Amino acid sequence: MDETTHLRLLGFIVERLEVGILAVDRQCRIVLWNRFMETHSGRLLDAVQGQNLFDCFPELPASWLKRKIDSVFVLGNYAFTSWEQRPFLFRFKHNRPITGGVDEMRQNCTFLPLRDASGEVKMVVLTLADYTDTALIQRRLQAAILESETERRKQRALLRRLQGAKAQLFQSEKLASIGQLAAGVAHEINNPVGFVTANLGSMERYLGDLTQLIGAYDAAATALPAAQAAAVQQIRQKLDYEFIREDLTALIKESREGLDHIRRIILDLKDFTRVDQDGWQAADLEKSCDSTLNVVWNELKYKAQIVKEYTHPPHPECIPGQINQVLMNLLVNAGHAIGDQGTITLRTGAQAGEPREVWVEVQDSGHGIAAGDLKRIFDPFFTTKAVGQGTGLGLSVSYSIMRRHGGRIEVRSEPGQGACFRLVLPVQRTEISDQSPPDGPDLAGEVSAEELLALEETDGR
Ligand SMILES: Nc1ncnc2c1ncn2[C@@H]1O[C@H](COP(=O)(O)OP(=O)(O)OP(=O)(O)O)[C@@H](O)[C@H]1O
Ligand SMILES: [Mg+2]
Repeated sequence: MDETTHLRLLGFIVERLEVGILAVDRQCRIVLWNRFMETHSGRLLDAVQGQNLFDCFPELPASWLKRKIDSVFVLGNYAFTSWEQRPFLFRFKHNRPITGGVDEMRQNCTFLPLRDASGEVKMVVLTLADYTDTALIQRRLQAAILESETERRKQRALLRRLQGAKAQLFQSEKLASIGQLAAGVAHEINNPVGFVTANLGSMERYLGDLTQLIGAYDAAATALPAAQAAAVQQIRQKLDYEFIREDLTALIKESREGLDHIRRIILDLKDFTRVDQDGWQAADLEKSCDSTLNVVWNELKYKAQIVKEYTHPPHPECIPGQINQVLMNLLVNAGHAIGDQGTITLRTGAQAGEPREVWVEVQDSGHGIAAGDLKRIFDPFFTTKAVGQGTGLGLSVSYSIMRRHGGRIEVRSEPGQGACFRLVLPVQRTEISDQSPPDGPDLAGEVSAEELLALEETDGR
């Protein structure tokens, strides 16, 4: 094939390539313009040849493109720009045969220096390749990745909520079984304490009788012969009879006090756990405070002075065992917040208005709660205590219990100023919604049990 034929063939191919090809001279006048450019710009070669590129296409990014072309003229290098950095140079339409939609054509562009025989760059050739399909596929791919990432994030959030809910359930069940165990033990101890108390009463009476009898013997001993009287006296002194007689009375008195103490503990435990009267009932919140306080007294007695400001409000309908659990969490937290010495104030009151509500407050003079933590203290597992000292479940369980009661739990605190937790309960039992209020820990939310189980299975794999 001679050179002319070869060149004509090449020209023919270039004309039909699905790639835009144009060339400009040093003044940016258009020198070359292939059919692709004619078709997409709507301008024929005759209309643009010899014209300044930027005059013909004012929509081009003139200063950027001029700099690019100039640099190819000066440096004689090859340059490239991809649709990802600069979506297009020429504002061409891209027809999508399948959807029938029309998009801006995304273009990958190359800049090639064209030299003469002396090596001087005489023209810069620009090629434009249509990358719209690739761009669309990439856009869809990115949307799919984003969607699956959102889905994964949702699943992780659901799993966290499932774990929180499970932990709460576990904690509530643990507390309930501890309560049952304590009530069982209290019940079992009650019987022996009963007969020990009765026996002690009999012993006290017998002791009186015996003392009386010994007194009579004492009176009769004066009639004994001297040797026998001395032997009796010796035994008396050896055994320290006078001491025994006095000490026996004191021992019985102390034992009776001890038994009374045990009986009070049993009553408090029974009152606290309320297993014998489970279920909804009108409960005296002040009695609940007192019995709970007795149960946790051991934790508080060396550090907290207790102040009671009771106003005898109406008795709300509730499950007293559960309210006692909440009170216990609050009292233990208050004890922990107080360093060496402090005060815990228990207050009760009634709120005017409808529905009628009663409240009980547990206020302490402890270290208080930082503003940033206030929003999080009801979240499951939120704790500021050292590892092993707090699970961070006390308040979240308390929150759930109050919610199930149609009531709420409020808190006010400032660092260094102590904290005050208020439990508010409707006097009349109300319908309890399953929806979590917007400001509370969202444990169940709108997730179904099936969804959670499915998620857990996926996670386990
Ligand atoms: N009275 C209070 N004073 C100061 N901070 C408190 C008080 N009550 C609760 N907090 C803060 O709230 C956090 C959460 O309390 P919560 O009772 O839920 O968990 P915890 O006491 O840390 O652990 P546990 O599960 O053993 O109760 C505590 O770690 C503490 O930082
Ligand atoms: Mg706690």
